[in-house]
Amino acid sequence: MEHSPCNKVNQTRKAPHAAIGQVLIEALPYIRKFEGKTFVIKYGGAAMKDSCLKNIFAQNVTLLRKVGIRIVLVHGGGDAITKTAEKMGLTSRFLHGRRVTDKEMISVIQMTLAGKVNQDIVQLISEHGGKAVGVSGLDADTIKARPHPNAVTLGLVGDVEQINTSYIDLLCRTGLIPVIAPIGFDDNGNIYNINADDAASSIAIALKAEKLIYVSDVEGIHVGERILKTISKREAADFIEQGIISGGMIPKVLSAFKTLDSGVGKIHLIDGKATHSLLLEIFTHEGVGTQFIAEQESDHY
Ligand SMILES: Nc1ncnc2c1ncn2[C@@H]1O[C@H](COP(=O)(O)OP(=O)(O)OP(=O)(O)O)[C@@H](O)[C@H]1O
Ligand SMILES: [Mg+2]
Repeated sequence: MEHSPCNKVNQTRKAPHAAIGQVLIEALPYIRKFEGKTFVIKYGGAAMKDSCLKNIFAQNVTLLRKVGIRIVLVHGGGDAITKTAEKMGLTSRFLHGRRVTDKEMISVIQMTLAGKVNQDIVQLISEHGGKAVGVSGLDADTIKARPHPNAVTLGLVGDVEQINTSYIDLLCRTGLIPVIAPIGFDDNGNIYNINADDAASSIAIALKAEKLIYVSDVEGIHVGERILKTISKREAADFIEQGIISGGMIPKVLSAFKTLDSGVGKIHLIDGKATHSLLLEIFTHEGVGTQFIAEQESDHY
C-alpha cells in the first residue's frame, strides 16, 4: 500500500479518466450494502498526530457519512495526554498498555481528551463539509463505568459498565457524526479513564454495529517481519503470552475478540499512516490490515 500520502509526487500523479471512473463505480455495491448501517471507528495512534494524515482521515470519514453510512468515532489521544501531563509536571506510567490514572491525571484527561483532542477532530471534519458533534462519555450518561479489576494499581481506570445509546442514536439519525471521548462515570461521582479500544468495543456492541475498525499506527498485527492478514483468538492469546503482542496492542486485541464474541462480525485493524486505508478497507474486496476472526485458516501475508 502507498505510504507518505502528503508527498507532492503522489498528489500530482494523475490516473486516466476511465480508470478513475472504474475505481469509483467499484464502490457502488459496497455503498448499497452499507447504506444505513453503523460503523464504529476507533481513531488512534500516529494518524492522530500528523496534520496531513488527520486531514485525509477527516475526508474519508466525511465521505463515508455522506454516502449514508452511520459513522461513530471513538478516539484515543495518549500522546496528547502525556504531553499535557508533562507540562503540568506529571509523569505518565503504563501497565499492560493502560495508563495509571490518579486524580490529577484524570483532570488532565478530561481537559485534553474531552477538550482539545476531541474538538480538533470535530473541527477538521467540519472543514471537509461533514457535521460532527463532540461527545464526552459523561454527556447524556453515554458511558457508565466501574473500577478496572486492577484498580489498586491503575487508579481511576474504568471498565465500561453500560453504554447508553440514546444520544449517539439521536445524532446518527440526524446525519451527524458523534466523536466520542472515552471517559466514564459511576453513581458515586467518580470519573474514569477508559481505554479507547475498550470504549469503542462496548459502543460497537451496544449499537449492534456492522463493523468495528481500529485505525492505528501499524500496518496490522506483526509477528516479526510478517503482517498477519487474519488473527484468531487462540493465536492472539499465544502471542500475548510470548510477548509478541505487547503494550497498547494488548487491550486492542482483547477488546476486538470481546466484540467478535458479542456478534459484531467484521473487525479490522488498519494503518492510519497508509493513504485512504479506511476507504480501501470498506470499498474494496481485498481489505487491508488485520482482520480478527473466530478461527484461523492460516491465511497470512
Ligand atoms: N504484535 C504487534 N503488532 C503490531 N503492533 C504492536 C504489536 N505489539 C505491540 N504493538 C504496539 O502497539 C501499538 C498500537 O497501540 P497504541 O495503544 O500505541 O496505539 P492506538 O491504540 O492506536 O492509539 P491510542 O492508544 O492513542 O488510542 C503499536 O504502535 C505497536 O508499537
Ligand atoms: Mg491504545
